Amino acid sequence: MPEIIFIGADGTRRPVVAQDGESVMRAALSNDVDGIVAECGGAAACATCHVFVDDPRVPPATPIEDEMLEATAVPREPCSRLGCQVFVSRELDGLEVRLPETQL
Ligand code: FES
Repeated sequence: MPEIIFIGADGTRRPVVAQDGESVMRAALSNDVDGIVAECGGAAACATCHVFVDDPRVPPATPIEDEMLEATAVPREPCSRLGCQVFVSRELDGLEVRLPETQL
């Protein structure tokens, strides 16, 4: 199973083993990683699962995700993503996911 590494706003690194096919948001919640709220439960409708993922292996955001990224609590960056729209696979083993200072 793929390992992904969550990096807190303070630089703390937290590796977790994710299920193949689950979202980054779901992997964070099921491993008690702080910093993800996910108010809408993964419907790409709240932007409280905002993360920074700078990795060319990750497919680009869809137009719906791209639009919702305009509503993040901290300023959007070029590598901003919704954690509920990035899905983990073996091909993404070792993925680094940076968390913002706040989601609200
Ligand atoms: S959980 Fe709401 S947009 Fe991702």
